[in-house]
Amino acid sequence: MAGASLSAAAFRVSPEPTILVFDSGLGGLTVLDAVRRARPDGRYVYAGDDAAFPYGRLGEAALVARVLAVMEQLLATHRPDLVVIACNTASTLVLPALRQRFATPFIGVVPPIKPAAAATRSGLISLLATPGTVARSYTHDLIATYAGSCAVTLVGSPNLAGFAEAELAGTPIDDAALAAEIAPCFVMDAEGRRTDVVCLACTHYPLLLPRLEALAPWPVTWIDPAPAIARRVIQLIGPARRNADQDGTVHGAFTAGTCLTAPLRASLAARGIGEIAVEALPLPMQ
Ligand code: DGL
Repeated sequence: MAGASLSAAAFRVSPEPTILVFDSGLGGLTVLDAVRRARPDGRYVYAGDDAAFPYGRLGEAALVARVLAVMEQLLATHRPDLVVIACNTASTLVLPALRQRFATPFIGVVPPIKPAAAATRSGLISLLATPGTVARSYTHDLIATYAGSCAVTLVGSPNLAGFAEAELAGTPIDDAALAAEIAPCFVMDAEGRRTDVVCLACTHYPLLLPRLEALAPWPVTWIDPAPAIARRVIQLIGPARRNADQDGTVHGAFTAGTCLTAPLRASLAARGIGEIAVEALPLPMQ
């Protein structure tokens, strides 16, 4: 995770902190779930920039400008104590600009290379992410720093985030299409060593985890960074008050709302997002 520049002493939070979890679309729900379990007494806003989804296809300058514009609106509307950028594609690029522009603390989600390097026995790791994340120099620097002794296969998936959104909205994706997206992650080298760890470096992918496990050509350890992000949130804002319940409804905010079909609203409600608003911010023509 990218949060090292923050320290718990650096800011004060209210006793019932408002935590805003942000993603391009619905992937950040995997992070929201983990953070809510860790701080059930927080107030939560889940914000999805569905007007600009998928971020994996945006150029770097366009993505920086977009996230700054959306965040400006979200911070003014919701005044959170803390923001989690639950998107690898954005975090690997935009965190410095966000921290420079806004005083609110940000925690990012970046590819879980360090735990992957600690977990592998074969030395063969695959990083499954959006095309944007696999291209970032941030990602390449993480690999050089933490996985120098491993063979890391970078797999930029053009479709998997969209497939995860479709599944959540009740449109099943067939096995062959999912298997084709993950196939390049499974590598066997000349000595017969096989990939044994796959980093889920896009927050959408854990939504599909049971399907990915079932379709894998051999068993691997799939690393989802969400629990580590929840621990980081607790480090910064402290644990829940004693006897805290998972109270309030999560407020959902979407920049277009076109994804909000009835089945998707039902899936969101099942995840605690009972109240949804379209806080429109159209994507300007590129
Ligand atoms: N959920 C996002 C991530 O973690 C990205 C999906 C997309 O917008 O391309 O990278």
